[in-house]
Amino acid sequence: MLAFIAKSMARPARLVKPVSLVKLPGRYLAHQEGLPQLPVPPLQQTLNKYLLALKPLISQEEWDHTHKIVEDFRTSGVGERLQKGLERRAKKTENWLSDWWLQTAYLEYRLPVVVHSSPGVVLPKQDFTDRQGQLRFAAKLIEGVLDFKSMVDNETLPVEYLGGKQLCMNQYYQILSSCRVPGPKRDSVVNYSQVKNPPTHITVVHNFQFFQLDVYNSDGTPLTTDQIFNQLEKIWGTSLQTNKEPIGILTTNHRNSWAKAYNNLIKDKTNKESVRTIQKSIFTVCLDAPMPRVSNELSRSRVAAQMLHGGGSGLNSGNRWFDKTLQFIVAEDGSCGLVYEHAPAEGPPIVALLDHVVEYTKKPDLVRSPMIPLPMPKKLRFNITPEVKNDIEKAKQNLNIMVHDLDVKVFVFDKFGKNFPKSEKLSPDAFIQVALQLAYYRMYGGSCATYESASLRMFRLGRTDTIRSATVQSLEFVQGMEDSGKQNQEKVDLLRKAILAHRNYTDMAINGKAIDRHLLGLKLQAIEDLVSIPEIFMDTAYAIAMHFNLSTSQVPAKTDCVMCFGPVVPDGYGVCYNPMEDHINFAVSAYNSCAETNAARLAHYLEKALCDIQQLVHNTPKSKL
Ligand code: COA
Repeated sequence: MLAFIAKSMARPARLVKPVSLVKLPGRYLAHQEGLPQLPVPPLQQTLNKYLLALKPLISQEEWDHTHKIVEDFRTSGVGERLQKGLERRAKKTENWLSDWWLQTAYLEYRLPVVVHSSPGVVLPKQDFTDRQGQLRFAAKLIEGVLDFKSMVDNETLPVEYLGGKQLCMNQYYQILSSCRVPGPKRDSVVNYSQVKNPPTHITVVHNFQFFQLDVYNSDGTPLTTDQIFNQLEKIWGTSLQTNKEPIGILTTNHRNSWAKAYNNLIKDKTNKESVRTIQKSIFTVCLDAPMPRVSNELSRSRVAAQMLHGGGSGLNSGNRWFDKTLQFIVAEDGSCGLVYEHAPAEGPPIVALLDHVVEYTKKPDLVRSPMIPLPMPKKLRFNITPEVKNDIEKAKQNLNIMVHDLDVKVFVFDKFGKNFPKSEKLSPDAFIQVALQLAYYRMYGGSCATYESASLRMFRLGRTDTIRSATVQSLEFVQGMEDSGKQNQEKVDLLRKAILAHRNYTDMAINGKAIDRHLLGLKLQAIEDLVSIPEIFMDTAYAIAMHFNLSTSQVPAKTDCVMCFGPVVPDGYGVCYNPMEDHINFAVSAYNSCAETNAARLAHYLEKALCDIQQLVHNTPKSKL
């Protein structure tokens, strides 16, 4: 997910302490050290694959022009020099890419984290409809997160695998007790999980008012559900007024504006302390006010919007601190989910945590000994100067424009799930991606640069690379599918080739042999070496290849939920999906300000493409597949 890269980046990344350098405890350290280092792919291989990846995206004439530029890069010595620089960097660092990626994809990215970077997760609707139910569920959820935290702290979290290989577990150490902090040119992430006295509190926000809630007893045991419930009731009871300044709205702004407002805000000692308390807290729980009711059909999409941005300054957007890594959202009407700040981790670890928490909330309450009365959770005070008020007003305006601009459609495709492609000996993920190519082609009559996140966690401190889903084979298939002169058998052969090409690209990407991060590395190396940016990166074809009209990601979960995120270009779509056994949960987003895109329309075409491909497979003898 999140294919953006600061296009205008023209200076080397200053080395700030990356979150990845937080010291890991013993057992995991041993596991981490056993993981391979991310390789730097051979230059020639990447350039060949880059030229191939351009084929479905540009005309033959444009391709011939780019071919010359690529050849020049290859033969002039420029490419080799940069490649050597990258290889040197790989020898000197744990992961040649991870810090660069953290800086360029996240911390130097200046658009608001809301919609543009932070994904949301829509959890299944809970069956409570009142405050009691809301607080009881929130209490249980908090207990569930603390239970997960104990596995992280005790190093009992099972090591994960992909394709039979162990994965890097570092991201699990980055998501609790951490927070993004805005900076004038680049942000940073603070992480308090491994400090001498790690935090023992969470933050709870209700009616825009923040509270520090200690969640451990003095003997170090976590509070029980009943204790947490009582504390939440106290918080609820002392934050009934809704006329408070929504201080959290500040975190929704453009990062440069927020950085200025932040400096201004924390000039005041009380404000600084309150902000630090939020930053240090293990996580945040947002007790949301009810959102406007919509039809059942629209309700999941409405919840997705609530998770992504909170609904605007008049609704729940002020009930957040968007820089906080983990914010669990529980609303009075049973809607719940999460929004997370993306810099420290990818979706899969977040969803693994959610799977654990959702299962935990289903457990019956334990009968515990009588409760010791606990002190009132501390309200975090903010002194709102006229300047701060002005910053809040400006942030509100920008946010409300963003809220109106986001078009999000969540739907359940219920005709089949991953079992169907599996039964046909096809990769489910590749099947869905090829269907998405067909949907797009039917809407726009061509292919577009398509990004799918591939995990690089087989490598130490690995994050992601890009699977380019628009391939020569996917274009041949979608063209063939739309060609009434072609027999079904021919179409199925093209489908099989397209799915295989996608699966092969996936294998290449997760094994560190994809092209996107390598090309980025070569470009950043040129910037670091203070040499002029090579023409290959100034070429129109490169801009087209990096303009991801489709930014997609599979985030599988055991829970029947779906992750959602915004498009990465103004005229693009964000598509996230969770393939379950017999259905697929999808979230599609677009911007209303772009006349050419429409989330519901793409969703419709996607459903049709999936059905048509299934039909095609059914109507063609299986032995041929
Ligand atoms: N025949 C039968 N079954 C097949 C098959 C075939 N030809 N190909 C794959 N399968 C099976 C797999 O064995 C797997 O089985 P399981 O459900 O028992 O585990 C299942 O189908 C799914 O495989 P597939 O659909 O091919 O995808 P994947 O699980 O390998 O995932 C990616 C592919 C790209 C999503 C994954 O490699 C990845 O990188 N995930 C991380 C993405 C990420 O970080 N996203 C978040 C960004 S914020």
